Amino acid sequence: MKILLLGSGGREHALAWKIAQSERVEKLYIAPGNAGTSNAGENVAIKADDFEKLKDFVVEKGIDMVVVGPEDPLVKGIYDNFRDDPRTAKVPVIGPSKQGAVLEGSKDFAKSFMERHNIPTAKYRTFNGMNIDEGLTFLETMKAPYVLKADGLCAGKGVLILPTLEEAKKEFKEMLGGMFGNASANVVIEEFLSGIECSVFVLTDGKNYKILPEAKDYKRIGEHDTGLNTGGMGSVTPVPFATKEWMKKVEDRIIRPTVDGLAEEEIDYKGFIFFGLINVDGEPMVIEYNCRMGDPETESVMLRLKSDIVDLFEGVAKGDLDKREITFDERAAVCVMLVSGGYPQEYVKGYPISGIEDVDGSIVFHSGTAMKDDTVVTAGGRVIAVSSYGKDKEEALKKSFTEAQKIQFKDKYFRSDIGADL
Ligand code: AMP
Ligand code: GLY
Repeated sequence: MKILLLGSGGREHALAWKIAQSERVEKLYIAPGNAGTSNAGENVAIKADDFEKLKDFVVEKGIDMVVVGPEDPLVKGIYDNFRDDPRTAKVPVIGPSKQGAVLEGSKDFAKSFMERHNIPTAKYRTFNGMNIDEGLTFLETMKAPYVLKADGLCAGKGVLILPTLEEAKKEFKEMLGGMFGNASANVVIEEFLSGIECSVFVLTDGKNYKILPEAKDYKRIGEHDTGLNTGGMGSVTPVPFATKEWMKKVEDRIIRPTVDGLAEEEIDYKGFIFFGLINVDGEPMVIEYNCRMGDPETESVMLRLKSDIVDLFEGVAKGDLDKREITFDERAAVCVMLVSGGYPQEYVKGYPISGIEDVDGSIVFHSGTAMKDDTVVTAGGRVIAVSSYGKDKEEALKKSFTEAQKIQFKDKYFRSDIGADL
């Protein structure tokens, strides 16, 4: 089987690593990929949202399946685009339809979906330029801190949490005034939830689903969760508070109603669902949905998936996921992200990276890297994920921190407190 994987980050390198282990795979292409994905397959210089070029490539190479890593092509409707073109209509795309991707693409849609299906989430209301005054009055009825969310995709920057009513009112008006362009033309105001977050991943064929190992990610740049938000500085699986009992609540109250709700609303969804959850006094609630795997969660979760991921993808495509087996590695797995100095603000690209070949016993996933002549160089804020197994998270983390020291590039930084809060 020939597979085309779309994307270019650490998530995609981890997916490529896992897909390449399948005996069913005759050839794996990654578009556009990075300096690491070329170790698992062949990189193709096509952007992940250039649908016409991707379709030409799929036809030319006789690709049997397309796996979508990032949300962007999904929100832009790659699933529908392939389905509606007679040349590619029979090639399964692992990822939801455009309508399904709205679960991530619109916070307002996600909130109203949860309301319709009684899925536990924070109380909310959505406002736009026509009812600003109502929004300000609604804010007065809420308690601090105040949570404001731009409705549309903002590359992870569209959520503001404000300590005072005064600031909340000011930012609310600025958001509606175009702070995030069209993405904040609608703004969700919601109740603040207090608890520890946890990412839960499901693969669904639209009817059946399989739950993957859960993970916790670390979003802030500074140790002890301080400083600016990043794409994610590391991840840990399993998560201690995600016990069997807790996961049963998640499945009964959140996962099953979501999958059934999508089917009921006739939303075509064949792919990953990422549930961003928060544990509020022992009760799981949904913070957000994403229509793809998490990054950097994938860089630890893939280590714990024992089953053949391509077999699971085939189950998704054929609608018989219930007949496929999913098994997990009982060990813990973690990833520690090495980032460019200055990230998530300005940073320099193009620094040579050395020492990757000295890493022993950990798995190196490239995130923002590129080849320059024959050298691997930095090409993004998040550069490399160092992933490890351990009998427990402490052992796995110790391993990742040790191996992370061997990789060198100018102004390298990583958080040495990943997992310490659990
Ligand atoms: P989101 O893009 O919706 O995941 O929001 C980004 C981050 O903001 C989340 O990962 C949480 O840490 C935080 N957050 C979002 N909504 C809430 C909420 N209702 N209460 C507390 N924290 C929140
Ligand atoms: N790790 C969070 C995300 O992928 O959105």
